[in-house]
Amino acid sequence: MNDKIKISLGNESHEFPLVKGTENEVGIDIKDLRSRTGLITFDPGYKNTGSCLSDITYLDGEKGILRYRGYSIDDLANNVTFLEVAYLLIWGELPNEKELSNVSNEIQESSSIDKDLECILKSFPSKAHPMGILCSLTSALIAFNPSSVDVSSKEKMFRATIELMAKFPILVSWVHRKVNGLPINKSNSKLSYTENLAQMMFKSSGDNYQSNPIIINALDKLLILHADHEQNCSTSTVRIVGSSRAGMYASISAGISALWGPLHGGANQAVIEMLEKIKADGGNTKKYLEKAKDKEDAFRLMGFGHRVYKNFDPRAKIIKKTADEVLTKLGINDPVLDIAKGLEEEALNDPYFIERKLYPNVDFYSCIIYRALGIPTEMFTVMFALGRVPGWIAQWKEMRLNKEPIGRPRQIYKGYNSRSL
Ligand code: SDX
Repeated sequence: MNDKIKISLGNESHEFPLVKGTENEVGIDIKDLRSRTGLITFDPGYKNTGSCLSDITYLDGEKGILRYRGYSIDDLANNVTFLEVAYLLIWGELPNEKELSNVSNEIQESSSIDKDLECILKSFPSKAHPMGILCSLTSALIAFNPSSVDVSSKEKMFRATIELMAKFPILVSWVHRKVNGLPINKSNSKLSYTENLAQMMFKSSGDNYQSNPIIINALDKLLILHADHEQNCSTSTVRIVGSSRAGMYASISAGISALWGPLHGGANQAVIEMLEKIKADGGNTKKYLEKAKDKEDAFRLMGFGHRVYKNFDPRAKIIKKTADEVLTKLGINDPVLDIAKGLEEEALNDPYFIERKLYPNVDFYSCIIYRALGIPTEMFTVMFALGRVPGWIAQWKEMRLNKEPIGRPRQIYKGYNSRSL
């Protein structure tokens, strides 16, 4: 294959180098397009634009493939823990026993948060949305870690990573307890990462929390499945905020805001609200399928479709199987799961969805499991954010180590020409 492409403009022609990835994706390197031709590209939503070179996550939307550092999501979800996946994403390889134990101990030793942050938590009204509280508390961490990470120092980057990986689950548990009007629980350094998260979220004050392995395994698997997803909306936000040399906590706080939107991570909350609405309307899935297809109707089938996957989202398959297992093992019969399955069955056989290659995505079934675990609807996207933290850290670190320039897209101006007052 050629390593250049020729673009003809009138009687001029220009050659641009091609960039090829290890999975044979090819991009046109247009770094000097404007300086050589005066032209820019126009690509709203960057559907056809590669923003960076990355060796963290690979996904193939047509084939429904997702790999973290070369390992398939199925292998990881079924064989390792979330903390091991976090290590893989951030440091590039799965940890050996000693490395895992070291990171686990470091996280346990950093699992405390300055008392002043509790005052910020308490100052939120009880009806505040959990994502808004989480975003503010993550930003507030900067107050106690003011220096922007010196990413060139392995030790300083390690410390900043440990601090965030240790404190984020505590913030998540604080938000959960706050929205449920419950007192916060202290971190328990004797427990594993996900067991500690569960006890901080679910332990009733006074009792000694007995973790349920079904809940722990389901939570751990959900965190793995959400850990990274290459250049999605919130990760691109983390990278572009970090490209101005803003700190890691500030960049990740911006990513939390981007994730909140119902077209992105907020879809898991929107899915359960949609399923509840269909249930309240007698379970009439055909009616809502027709609404989703009607261009005059703003209703969309939440949890369906994807910017990149034009095949089954591999995570959705794993989550659907896990939802069945969790509800069976916990002895829960949730009619909303049956509605979800009915909706999926009808959509997958409907020409509108088939032609547009709309399949269930990661959010379609995850909400069923969160609900079965007793997590309130408005906390679902907070759980997504917790899973995504190692991916955001890894992507931010890569962007900074690659010394990427500040992100600054151009535009096509369509406003007034010069005019006088
Ligand atoms: C996540 O990018 C990532 O990687 C994100 C994520 C991650 O891990 O970070 O995977 C997590 O955000 C998953 C997506 C969660 N969002 C939702 O479930 C919300 C519902 N989905 C849609 O809003 C939509 O599918 C998007 C936003 C996800 C994708 O939007 P696109 O790529 O802009 O879709 P499109 O406009 O190219 O769709 C093509 C057609 C359009 O119809 P036509 O104009 O061709 O007639 O499909 C239609 C769309 O109207 N369509 C839908 C639909 N999604 C797309 N019609 C009904 N219901 C839907 N859900």
